[in-house]
Amino acid sequence: MNAEQNALITRIGPGTACGALLRSYWHPAALVDEFDPAIDPRMAQRPVKAVRLLGQDMVLFRANSGSYGLLDRDCPHRGADLSFGRAEGDGLRCPFHGWKFDVSGRCLETPAEPAGSKLCDRIKQRSYPVQEKSGVLFAWMGPEESTPPPLPAFDCFTAPATHSFAFKGLWNANWLQAFEVGIDPAHPSFLHRFLQDEALDEIGDNAAGKQFRSASAGAIDGEQWPMTRIMREFAQPDISFETRPWGMQLTALRSMNEKLTHVRVTQAIFPATFVIPLSETMTITQMHVPVDDTHTYWYSFFTSFAGPLDKESMRAQRQQFIALPDYIPNAGRHNHWGFNAEEQRTQTYLGMGEEDINVHDQWAVESMGAIQDRTREHLATSDKVIMANRRVLLKAIATVQQGGVAPGIADAAQAELMRGPDTVDGIAPAGEWSDWWQEQARAKQANAPWVANSVRTEPPVLSPVEGVEGPTAASTGSARTVTR
Ligand code: FES
Ligand SMILES: [Fe+2]
Repeated sequence: MNAEQNALITRIGPGTACGALLRSYWHPAALVDEFDPAIDPRMAQRPVKAVRLLGQDMVLFRANSGSYGLLDRDCPHRGADLSFGRAEGDGLRCPFHGWKFDVSGRCLETPAEPAGSKLCDRIKQRSYPVQEKSGVLFAWMGPEESTPPPLPAFDCFTAPATHSFAFKGLWNANWLQAFEVGIDPAHPSFLHRFLQDEALDEIGDNAAGKQFRSASAGAIDGEQWPMTRIMREFAQPDISFETRPWGMQLTALRSMNEKLTHVRVTQAIFPATFVIPLSETMTITQMHVPVDDTHTYWYSFFTSFAGPLDKESMRAQRQQFIALPDYIPNAGRHNHWGFNAEEQRTQTYLGMGEEDINVHDQWAVESMGAIQDRTREHLATSDKVIMANRRVLLKAIATVQQGGVAPGIADAAQAELMRGPDTVDGIAPAGEWSDWWQEQARAKQANAPWVANSVRTEPPVLSPVEGVEGPTAASTGSARTVTR
């Protein structure tokens, strides 16, 4: 990849081609928790937050009505910072000369102007649509005169509040390398490897960093295996992908013996979200939103297909590693991400702790540099998903530049069909893994107390995201692409 292409697919500020593409989608702007006085006491005084998204500075505030306003941060009078504004219940007032704005950006008062002034009627601050979903406030930053698309009916958005939990964290790096780490099916065998296993009965669903400690579905000679043991012992997955309306369905097969195959199915939702299994009854949907070209917030949605979640303890576990109110990880470049050479020799492949595997991914993302220099990389066979995603991204940028619709942007009827998407991590009978995993996914959905099963029986029949096909991997319809 040359330097111009690398710049094209990573730069997302106003006026950039990739920025225009990303502005086609809803992006997380804040957790609803960030406005909860029990979690951030400042919110009892003033429910106002400075927000930076896609290289733009904005202010997010909650009115007494319960609606949220997301406005450009520079006051339309003379540019003072509205995130220091006075919260007045029905609007936000600039402390410089008292101009006041409602959640839609309408100017309500200009108190320094002469009596009878009609100036207000001509002033409108740019505001952005906000919607609340699964504990997250989503913003839409597309062109002012256009209508935002619906959010798809994915499981992470349709699960009730009792069965979903959201959290976030800041990474000091470009959004694309964050996503490219997440959709890489080869890395768990190495980056997240534990050199020893823990007893499976000591692992709870809510254990924050225990992602690969959980059992893989299915058994070998009646014995369950932790995911990490399978990842460790079978480190050359046969990686393939199929196009889906939302992006790509990724399959990593690890042949264990002539009778058994380990199957890990995950999902890449274009442009920056992945869905992975945390355990047999829980998924993580992780979205990556650019703060600017060199900072990214990840937002994780934990979705339970079994019992309700203990959100208090999930939050408390994660707050050990990430400092509020800005959700900054304790580990980072400044302290070598907690690297310990002794641990690397004896306990883990990476040497950055066992309790919070999120820091493993953080290291992979941040250690590449603020924006990875892709002119220096050497992509390999196991990077076929990364290559496919870049092809989709380049094509999508061109499509939007030419006035077309971004991939995965659906109308209301289509959005309703964008469901699931399903994941699995399990041991299947060799040769029958495809039927086996789909049966596992159906059973998980059928057992979930909140899934409307009647609409889950038919798989969606929508045209897949275009652009995946290319010289290194051919994939059409439901045909599987195998490693050459
Ligand atoms: S700059 Fe905001 S009211 Fe004057
Ligand atoms: Fe990872």
